[in-house]
Amino acid sequence: MTKVRIEVLVDDPSRDDVDTVMECAPGSDVVDACDAACAPIDFSCRAACCSTCRIQVLAGAEWLAPPGDLEDELIAASGEAPGVRYTCVARVAENAPDGATIRVRPLGAAF
Ligand code: FES
Repeated sequence: MTKVRIEVLVDDPSRDDVDTVMECAPGSDVVDACDAACAPIDFSCRAACCSTCRIQVLAGAEWLAPPGDLEDELIAASGEAPGVRYTCVARVAENAPDGATIRVRPLGAAF
């Protein structure tokens, strides 16, 4: 079975330590993996409204599916820099190969 690795770094931009490693199937919702692994990414609305689950994708962005309409609206509203995604609505790309790695850092709410 194909597995994609998601590495969640510690919530400290001065460090590159990995806090949590999750394995997900292509096409799966990242939020489900975070819940199962107790990843250090906070959630509130879980519907691309509040920005609580904001992350910076540091590597492997191509292995996330492109943002949907809700996430695109939130990115535009918050004026995010490239590479910022919202975990609650992010999904692993269907074409992600076995062993692909996505590395992210929690950012916390934008507003
Ligand atoms: S939890 Fe609110 S935007 Fe993701």
